Amino acid sequence: MEFGLNEEQLMIQQTARDFAQTEIAPTAIERDKNAVFPTEIVKKLGELGFMGMMVNPKYDGAGMDTVSYVLAMIEISKVDASVGVIMSVNNSLVTFGLERWGSEFIKEKYLKPLARGEKLGAFALSEPEAGSDATQQKTMAEKDGDHWVLNGMKNWITNGKSADYYIVMAQTDKEKRHKGITAFLVEKGTPGFDHGVKEDKLGIRSSDTCSLSFTNCRVPEENIIWEVGKGFYFAMNTLNGGRYGIASQAVGIAEGAYEVALKYSLERKAFNTEIFNHQAIQFKLSDMAVKVDAAKLLTLRAAALKDAGKDYIKEASMAKLFASEAAVHCALEAVQIHGGYGYVREYQVERYLRDAKVTEIYEGTSEIQRMIIARMIKNEVQ
Ligand code: CAA
Repeated sequence: MEFGLNEEQLMIQQTARDFAQTEIAPTAIERDKNAVFPTEIVKKLGELGFMGMMVNPKYDGAGMDTVSYVLAMIEISKVDASVGVIMSVNNSLVTFGLERWGSEFIKEKYLKPLARGEKLGAFALSEPEAGSDATQQKTMAEKDGDHWVLNGMKNWITNGKSADYYIVMAQTDKEKRHKGITAFLVEKGTPGFDHGVKEDKLGIRSSDTCSLSFTNCRVPEENIIWEVGKGFYFAMNTLNGGRYGIASQAVGIAEGAYEVALKYSLERKAFNTEIFNHQAIQFKLSDMAVKVDAAKLLTLRAAALKDAGKDYIKEASMAKLFASEAAVHCALEAVQIHGGYGYVREYQVERYLRDAKVTEIYEGTSEIQRMIIARMIKNEVQ
């Protein structure tokens, strides 16, 4: 696919491809099987500049554009979507937001080590009773001198166990609904802050997902991100960016599933010919090829719009919606093409299917993306 990629973008894509093949792929099955967090891989991604890809070098980031980030995310997720989501959260949901809305103090103290990949970040918005309806935050923060005291629970937090720094949304004025939500930077080890056990998940098993608890957890005033009452806007704007990150992860899964299925269909014989020669299989592969390309183009468009300083909210939601459904479709068809071999762990194909499903759920379900798109297309004609 040609998207007018420049030399630097092609070089980053190749670097990510090589790294994915040599450093990530060989251990992906084992890490998935035993739900082992890829600590060493994340460290190496940091050394490559992949944990703070779009952050200005002034804050120790790699200063790359969003298109390059998408290309790298696709290559990494193609071999291991768990590594993909760890990278996506640190880049899209954590460093992006801190650079855009953090104070100089926060950027010096927290953004720099996150961008270097020496520290890992997490983004805590969801709660037991506030998932899609994110304004319903129950976690409370009350001011006490020059600190805020946090009490409450967060759920489904990617990097929940392994992160060092957490962005936590909490209600600081319940009367004001979403205008009374504030974002805080909470360090691991702060008294009163703990994480639950790692969830035993269907897919992306080597990434860790946990609940978080806050019991009289004191956070200094200087750790407020943006300002009091801006936490919901911070979360929404950050998630706009997260959505092309997850779209890229989904493109990687879709493309990975498509490529292994195509290869298998050209090798495996049935009824005296390679199964590719049967029209039933050709139609499946054609549909997969179209979906992979369309998902990739939508995702690159959202990234290119952001790089050009244009609006990209609708396009990011469209990319996430389409790419995540394409990932599930392609993974399902890849299993079908592999038959029984697709159903066992050894062939990796079933992992694509397990990993694909969550892309339709996290960072805004497919239903939420349709809601966002509907609101925006209505606005366009009014
Ligand atoms: N970008 C910027 N601002 C936005 C926005 C967006 N995408 N969506 C809403 N806003 C603003 C609105 O403009 C509005 O501002 P004003 O009140 O000043 O006019 C304000 O936010 C409230 O918006 P709505 O009235 O539209 O609120 P709503 O409650 O009707 O709907 C929603 C909001 C879009 C559904 C939102 O709740 C949402 O995105 N929900 C999904 C949450 C989500 O994605 N959760 C995933 C968490 S992260 C995760 O998955 C974990 C992980 O670790 C990977």
